[in-house]
Amino acid sequence: MQIRALDLADDTLMSAAGELVVRSWREGRPHAPAYSPRDWVADQRSPDSGESQDLVGCTDETGRLLGVGILYLFLLDNRDKGWLEIDVDPAHRRHGVGSLLLRHLLDIAHADGRAQVLIDAKVPFAEITTHGYRRFAEGHGFTYSNVEVVRHLALPVPGAQLDAWAAEAAAQAGREGGFRIETHVNEFPEELRESLCVLLGQLGVDAPTGAADFEEEQVTPQRFDERYAAVQAAGRDLFETVAVTPDGVVAAQTTIVAPRSTNDAFQWGTFVHREHRGHRLGLAVKVANLRAVQGRSPHLRRAVTQNAETNSWMVAINDQMGFEPVEATLELLRTL
Ligand SMILES: CC(C)(COP(=O)(O)OP(=O)(O)OC[C@H]1O[C@@H](n2cnc3c(N)ncnc32)[C@H](O)[C@@H]1OP(=O)(O)O)[C@@H](O)C(=O)NCCC(=O)NCCS
Repeated sequence: MQIRALDLADDTLMSAAGELVVRSWREGRPHAPAYSPRDWVADQRSPDSGESQDLVGCTDETGRLLGVGILYLFLLDNRDKGWLEIDVDPAHRRHGVGSLLLRHLLDIAHADGRAQVLIDAKVPFAEITTHGYRRFAEGHGFTYSNVEVVRHLALPVPGAQLDAWAAEAAAQAGREGGFRIETHVNEFPEELRESLCVLLGQLGVDAPTGAADFEEEQVTPQRFDERYAAVQAAGRDLFETVAVTPDGVVAAQTTIVAPRSTNDAFQWGTFVHREHRGHRLGLAVKVANLRAVQGRSPHLRRAVTQNAETNSWMVAINDQMGFEPVEATLELLRTL
């Protein structure tokens, strides 16, 4: 077996890698959301100037691809950390492919001076402490960092229900701060960008992330544009709902990414600025965003979200909106 870099421009290779990763990703996960090899290829090819990406494959002597690994190294912030993804074709597991990929990428992270590397795995709740993926990572020196709970919400949510939640949120948000709620699809007004980027960068600091301690992320104007370009390139729509103070500063945000041709929408971050918490702005932006998503993309049947169980305020909003726990994301950390 050997490790080789995967050339992003090689259509045949990238599509084989995408098929493999999606097979691996779906293994043992009957409720996994729709995500196609083409989506994966589009995601790999979309640049993010905030991180480097090492994409490698493990092949056998005939050149057949057995596994794929990616190492992301943050470039603008969190320069002590890296993020790993390892996927082995289910037909070729337990033959050392995962270990070979992992060691190769850990060496790169180490050579770059990174002190911590994170990896995650989707596992059933009942197997959080015992699952083979955890044993694999622990066998390579990783230790438990965090558990996030993946939740699904059946769509569409009835309009009357959205109205009731919006009224509940507006009663408090309006009375206490005069915030206005705006939704923008696939574009975002120039004058609100700077304050939105600040919120997007603080999410990783304020959301609980277990044993890993993240510093504020630098969401530069270039990275903000790349975020929108990546979503477009993958055939998705980006819905951003924000709460804006009377003097024009974004106080809260939430993002949903909705594929145009499949039925699962992905809830990305939701964040309320430290100075503006306690006004039900989280519920206000989430409900407005969902209403916009359902209006523009009526084909969607499910929204997928995940957050740390210790993130009680976010979990409370998701519970109220009817999100149901489905599986766990187990996060593990290796110190180099
Ligand atoms: C986890 C994964 C990468 C392992 O790949 P792999 O090629 O099977 O791993 P290896 O053959 O190198 O396994 C090395 C050791 O890890 C442990 N291990 C790996 N998979 C295991 C499993 N399903 N059950 C128990 N132990 C396991 C074993 O100790 C194994 O050694 P052994 O086979 O001699 O007992 C693979 O199962 C996968 O792609 N999973 C889905 C994606 C994922 O969640 N990746 C991140 C995991 S942290």
